[in-house]
Amino acid sequence: MTKENTTFNFDQIIPRHATGCSKWDSLEKVFGSEDVLPLWVADMDFPSPEAVIRKINERASHPIYGYNTQESSLYQSIIEWVKSRHGWQIEKDWILLAPGVVPSIALSILALSEPGDGIIIQPPVYPPFFASIKDNDREIVLNPLLLKDGRYEIDFEDLEEKLSNSKNKLLLLCSPHNPVGRVWKEEELRKIYELCQKYKVDVLSDEIHNDLVFSGHKHTVFASLGTPACKQSVTFMAASKTFNIAGLNFSFMIVPCQRRRALIERWMHRLHINRNNLFGVLATEVAYQEGDAWLDALLSYLEKNADVLVDFVQTRLPRVKVNKPEGTYLAWLDFRAYFTNAKELEHFLVHTAKVGLNSGANFGSQGEGFARINLATQRSILLEALNRIEKALLAIDRNGKK
Ligand SMILES: Cc1ncc(COP(=O)(O)O)c(C=O)c1O
Repeated sequence: MTKENTTFNFDQIIPRHATGCSKWDSLEKVFGSEDVLPLWVADMDFPSPEAVIRKINERASHPIYGYNTQESSLYQSIIEWVKSRHGWQIEKDWILLAPGVVPSIALSILALSEPGDGIIIQPPVYPPFFASIKDNDREIVLNPLLLKDGRYEIDFEDLEEKLSNSKNKLLLLCSPHNPVGRVWKEEELRKIYELCQKYKVDVLSDEIHNDLVFSGHKHTVFASLGTPACKQSVTFMAASKTFNIAGLNFSFMIVPCQRRRALIERWMHRLHINRNNLFGVLATEVAYQEGDAWLDALLSYLEKNADVLVDFVQTRLPRVKVNKPEGTYLAWLDFRAYFTNAKELEHFLVHTAKVGLNSGANFGSQGEGFARINLATQRSILLEALNRIEKALLAIDRNGKK
């Protein structure tokens, strides 16, 4: 169990209804019902750090919101954050600013592969991974994760087979992994690194959840493993998940190889992606400069939520399976003892339990019978959701009725 910080109050509920927020304001559209407690899309029900709120308010109080420019202090804040939190020394020239991680992944796919090329992903995995490959006329190549005693692992034998096929040009890595919550160990990443080097496959490493890692685990930046890893990779990061500023549409890519960077920049010019959201830039800079203590407190709150979830599931929902996530604020619930059909599980969660979780089937066929729950909410909301699920499952246990 983890120690909790009391300086920041993550228990306080701040209603988000009618703020134009995706998580709470699009329930009818997403779930076909307004009557669900939402614990789905990956943002948090917590306010951003004070320093971020202050900075945005200060800038917003100036009434002109024209085109902005990026100060060198922004780059400096990124360089220092990546060094201090992740031990990786990067250079300013390596950083490309972008409007989000998913568009950056699509850009990198366009820049570093050709139509028809294979791109390897490791399902169950974040749904836009599938779309960014398919929508750009590349081929999705699956290297499914293996579920061993409730814990997901990489199938290296299968990965080597896929990497050795010269049609497959990129590996799209999710590190830490959404939805299974693995924080890949250095030795696992090193194995990937060696295989990718052997078969000359570049790695697109989505590390958006890099700061959200629980006690006993450590995030290793893939590109920090050595010079070839650094050269043969693009790293995607953002302050958006960490500091709950996803609505400000700002992220960055780290591309140490000059040739690969030029290819990506060429696509950015073609698509005229050369502006960044004024507030996203300011919020990222100040969060990286002043957000350490807030983040540490957040992590201990999130980890306690993860402990509460695991304890609840083990004691009160024994036929549901869950593993404590090592990082991210997402947990992956295995309902297969009750439902193997995704549609039936979705219907049960929305209409019987009245909770809005992400359907596991959206993360690939390996996710059928699973659901993803977002733990980044007040503990009282999390417990309410779990109580609802318990009550609904008890009815099935009692009379077999779904
Ligand atoms: C692995 C991963 N990548 C990217 C994103 C979204 O990134 P962005 O909003 O910057 O496009 C998410 C959001 O949930 C995510 O989990």
